[in-house]
Order: sequence, then C-alpha cells, then structure tokens
Amino acid sequence: MILQVNPSRGLRGRVKVPGDKSISHRAALLGAMGHGVTRIEGFLESEDCLATLQCLLLLGTPIKRLAPGSYEIQGMGYDGFREPNDVLDCGNSGTTMRLLMGILAGQPFFSVLTGDASLRSRPMGRVIEPLRSMGARILGRAGGTRAPLAVLGSERLEGKTHRLPVASAQVKSALLLAGLRAEGVTVVTEPGPSRNHTEVMLQQMGVPVEVDGLTVAVEGGSLPNGGQINIPGDISSAAYLMVAAAILPDSDITIENVGINSTRAGIIEVLEAMGANLEIEPLPGAGEPKANIRIRTSTLCGTEIGGAIVPTLIDELPVLAVAAAFAQGTTFVRDAAELRVKECDRIAAMAEELGRLGVDIEERSDGWVIRGSRDLSGGRVRGWGDHRIVMALAVLGLGTKAPVEIEDAEAVSVSFPEFVTILKELGAEVEERASDPEDVQVSW
Ligand code: S3P
Repeated sequence: MILQVNPSRGLRGRVKVPGDKSISHRAALLGAMGHGVTRIEGFLESEDCLATLQCLLLLGTPIKRLAPGSYEIQGMGYDGFREPNDVLDCGNSGTTMRLLMGILAGQPFFSVLTGDASLRSRPMGRVIEPLRSMGARILGRAGGTRAPLAVLGSERLEGKTHRLPVASAQVKSALLLAGLRAEGVTVVTEPGPSRNHTEVMLQQMGVPVEVDGLTVAVEGGSLPNGGQINIPGDISSAAYLMVAAAILPDSDITIENVGINSTRAGIIEVLEAMGANLEIEPLPGAGEPKANIRIRTSTLCGTEIGGAIVPTLIDELPVLAVAAAFAQGTTFVRDAAELRVKECDRIAAMAEELGRLGVDIEERSDGWVIRGSRDLSGGRVRGWGDHRIVMALAVLGLGTKAPVEIEDAEAVSVSFPEFVTILKELGAEVEERASDPEDVQVSW
C-alpha cells in the first residue's frame, strides 16, 4: 500500500487515540497468568496486540471479546496453560515474543515462538541468557539468539539477580514474569529507567513488587488477581498528532485521555524544550496517570536529546526527528543506539528517507544531527515495513511543499490502525492506495 500525504493546512479538533500498546499486551498476559477474571477496557486492537491474544488462545486461555476494545480474560494461573499445538506466531511484536518467553520459561511443556522477518532478525539473546541463568531451556537460531525459538520447558526456575547492560522494559518484564514462577527472589537492575507498566500492573493486581530506584524485585509464588483494567490512549500514537499540530500553521488539537506515565512521557518534556505550545490537563483516577493534551501551532527550535530521557521517548524519536527537521536550529540526538534493533534500523531508515526529502540530517552511530528548515520538498520514500517510520514520514509529508508518497505503508496497522482516519478527521489530506503494479515484486 502507498500512503500519499499532501501538504495540509492546520489540524483542528478533539480526538482520542487508541489504547496503549505496551499496557494492552500486559493486561492480556497478566490476566491470562493470574487468578480470576480480568476485564479490559480500551484494549488496542492492532496487529501486535492481536498477536498476543492469538498466542494466549493457543496456550488455552479463554478470551471473550465483549465489544470493540472490551475483553474478558479468564485467568487460569501459571499451571493453567497447556502445550500449544502450533507455533506461536508473534508477528512483528517484540513485546509479545519477549514477555511470552518469560511466562513459557517456567512451563513444563514445549513451545516454539516465531515472527515476521523483522522480528526474526531482532536480538533475543538479551532475554534468553538471563532466563537460562534461572534454569530455562531455550534454543534458537544464530547460537540461540534469534527466533524461531524453542522453549523446552522446565518446571523449576531459580530467582537470580540480573544487571541489564541496556535499559529494556521487555527484558525486565520477561525476567519479572519468570520470577513469579521461580523459587526465591528475582532482582533486575537497569542502567536507566525503562517503562514500568509491568510493575504498575502487577501491583494493581495484588502482586508485591519492590522498587528501589533502577532496581525491581519480585518473589516467586504470588500471581496477579483479576480485576478491571482501563487502558489509556497511547502517547506513542498521540506523538504523531502532537508533532503534526506543532509544525502545521493554524493547528489546535486536543487529544483526550492519553497515558502520561513518566517513564513514557519524555516527548512532552522535549517538545516543551523545543518551544511547543502545549497544555497538559491531568485527569483524575487510579492506575496509570493520564491527561488531555492540547497542542497548537508552534515555532519549534532545535534541542539536545540524550542520556536518561532516551528510554522514556525511544519510540517517539523518529517523529521527533521530523519535529527537528522543521525546527529553527540544530537538534542533536545521542545515546539512542537501541533504535538500530527496533522493527528496523530506525537510525538508518530516518537518515536515508529524510535525506531523500532534502532534510539536512547526519547519521551518527547512536542518533542524528538534524539542521531544521521550513522549506522541504516532497517525493517518494520507503516505510521500511516499520509502523513508526511510516507514520513519522507521513507527518513530515503534511508539512512539505509537495506531496510525499510512502511505499510499504501497511505497517501502520501494527500499532495505530486508525491513523489515517484520525488524521483525516482533523483535516489532513491523506489517501491510501494500492501499490503501483510496477512496484509489486513477485517472488517464486
Ligand atoms: C516496549 C518496550 C520498549 C519499546 C517497545 C515496547 C514494551 O522496548 O521500544 O516498543 O512494551 O515493553 P525496550 O524493551 O527496548 O524497552
């Protein structure tokens, strides 16, 4: 599919973005491994989160869809899962594969995890090695570091102390979930703050979790209780609308009920530092913090992004690169080498595609240097099969002087299937069309 984005006037209106992707995965997984019924409202029905539900169904979890985004999951405890009679296909979703590994590591049965070409190329050793130290038996391609992976099953896991070389919520979460099945205490220390949704939800579901700075600990034996989980809108999806409204003249939008957990909300701080015209109205309620976010046309200036803030906005860096492309002055992005092992090499992807559209962008090993300009032309770019690259390029296309055509754009449905509809509702000129016949490559 090709997404054609035409230069647009300002965005205006009030919208909601779909539920948070990270929290949706966790609600389904913790609900399934817990006791009792978990009712979820605002579940993100995108390809990634549906892959998690599909895997849980294969593992024998009863799941009922009551209405769009509204689910009931019957938890069966750690012992309720059954050996899947097929391969668990995690699609494009690293969260599905890594968190499931944490749950399956302590199961007495055999399971195989795979995913699409992107997921099969992503590093899994960072989860497998620490799980093995707890007694898990996991095999995989490339010396046990790439999917497809076979989890051989092992009934006894032992709590261990782990010091992660990179801040990663997926690795931390996998180890904590395995830790609930292990004997003794499992401790995870990270070099920086990664998103803490697993810890928050475990506590909300009655599991004691000890948090001390960058160290988290759980003791084996307790499992989540069911209950009600209301998922806020995904700040990572809101990010595209925020940047689009900031760079387009005559914009004024409000995005309702967005999750603003401080381990995710780095984009707010950075856009404020860039001079964005932002208002955050916190909303009352228990659980994850949320807010209505109003953003209007802004004169952005360059900034520096690096250090501890990076994990709190890691998924937003492609669209922040677009904000930087329209800002006055230079933006430096550092300490973001993790971007190279996301759904694609996002540092290379943005450098190549923004460069193609005339942005002054320099690729560094761990980020970019971007010199802003408000005078960008359009053209044809590639989405690299990566949802965040496609959406970031689409935002850029709204602000260029001529249309931007994005090839390989279907990946949007991985995290934000309503992206085009919502942009149109706000007044953007975007259209989807089938790939041109000469673009279709047949492989025999
Ligand atoms: C996620 C964690 C992040 C993020 C990813 C989702 C999660 O990766 O990039 O999109 O749901 O735990 P890390 O594991 O590198 O923190």
